[in-house]
Amino acid sequence: MTVSSVATAAYIVAALLFIASLAGLSKHETARQGLTFGIVAMAISLVASLILVVDISDALGIALLLVAMAVGAIIGMTRAANVEMSGMPELIALLHSFVGLGAVLVGWNGYLGHGDIAADLVEIHRAEVFVGVFIGAVTCTGSIVAYLVLSARIDSAPLLLPGKNVLNLGALVLFVALTIGFVASPNIWLLLAVTIVALALGWHLVASIGGGDMPVVVSMLNSYSGWAAAASGFLLDNDLLIVIGALVGSSGAYLSYIMCKAMNRSFISVIAGGFGIASATNDDADYGEHREISAADTAELLENAASVVITPGYGMAVAQAQYPVADLVRKLRERGVEVRFGIHPVAGRLPGHMNVLLAEAKVPYDIVLEMDEINEDLAGTSVVLVIGANDTVNPAAEDPGSPIAGMPVLRVWEAENVIVFKRSMAAGYAGVQNPLFFRDNTQMLFGDAKQRVEEIVRALDLASVR
Ligand code: TAP
Repeated sequence: MTVSSVATAAYIVAALLFIASLAGLSKHETARQGLTFGIVAMAISLVASLILVVDISDALGIALLLVAMAVGAIIGMTRAANVEMSGMPELIALLHSFVGLGAVLVGWNGYLGHGDIAADLVEIHRAEVFVGVFIGAVTCTGSIVAYLVLSARIDSAPLLLPGKNVLNLGALVLFVALTIGFVASPNIWLLLAVTIVALALGWHLVASIGGGDMPVVVSMLNSYSGWAAAASGFLLDNDLLIVIGALVGSSGAYLSYIMCKAMNRSFISVIAGGFGIASATNDDADYGEHREISAADTAELLENAASVVITPGYGMAVAQAQYPVADLVRKLRERGVEVRFGIHPVAGRLPGHMNVLLAEAKVPYDIVLEMDEINEDLAGTSVVLVIGANDTVNPAAEDPGSPIAGMPVLRVWEAENVIVFKRSMAAGYAGVQNPLFFRDNTQMLFGDAKQRVEEIVRALDLASVR
């Protein structure tokens, strides 16, 4: 058995582990196991790649490689240990830009350093160079813009150049023309031209999108970075990189599709960098008066409820209310009240935002249900607590004339009682007023969600002492 056949076998094991990792990450219960599979798979891939690539007689090359790996590992571990949950999207965006840059460098290396390509494969190799550089450069600058917007280093308003769609389309047509020219007669100027066009296109595509929609863009860039890695895999003749790139590319695209569906956005417009920020079209319809409730009365209502559903949203993340919420859930369950959570796919500002917060606060996974799993049960629920959610529970989504028409929502208004935790009557992220607040079965509990939930917990404690 040769060293290279052992390394190839290791690649197959790593590829299977990466697939198992993705499967594990799709459910709370198995997410930790999924991460372990991913870490083991990455370790196997690194060792196997080193065995295949490193020339043992090249001491300087090995030393440089080890230094690069050590520097990367230290930076990666320090960032991962310090990143705040809210800083995750910008960190991911920045990391994607490195994948893109890597693909550009691999592409350039494929052109400058290609030695022994079989004559009948030379044209395919040239096309691979071009595609790799193009996708890599778009991913690189697109991710840098996403990083700058998300970290508030540049303005989040969309860049609206005149004829922006024509500019994007023109860049694509130019790419096709340059590719044909390069495959027929390669030269460094064509490669330089496609690199510049793709860098500019990546910048423009993402800069044309408003800051609020950046999470979808980051997920799309995740997909692009996967395809860029797959293109590098073809150039480096590395099967594992092709498999991993395709896994990242397709799962990122699917995640973007799910997010777009849940936000009622057009998937195609996102890919084309064509949609702007959510419009703040507050209507001036008269919905009537809203009613208010106190924390003490809410505690009494909860104590006497048979079933409670909590639908958290962005406000729970802002208030960091997940710990008192977990406390409240424990106390209610001790009193025999059935408590479950209903999680909207785009509640908060990140995919899985609410799930991560609730897991952090040690809420049991089996009572955290997805929107589709809980929606049918809401009609038979005694009390729904809407904690810092707004758009995701807005009945206006069922009105064809509303700006959020068609967005699937949690039908909380079907419950017997609804308590909405928020600080004011302000609209949610989409800028659309929420008729839920004015329904007969809805009461508003104003104030910071964390403080209000803590007050309810204290009221329950007092009631149990009496
Ligand atoms: P939002 O519609 O964003 O509403 C959050 C509500 O929380 C606001 O109405 C706000 O009202 C309240 N709030 C803020 N701070 C609070 C605090 N400290 N205490 C109590 N309440 C507080 O929330 P949502 O229902 O989670 O919807 C998410 C929105 O983001 C959707 O429109 C979605 O399309 C969009 N989006 C989601 C994602 C992902 S992947 N999740 C990505 C991009 C965009 P007050 O100011 O009156 O307190």
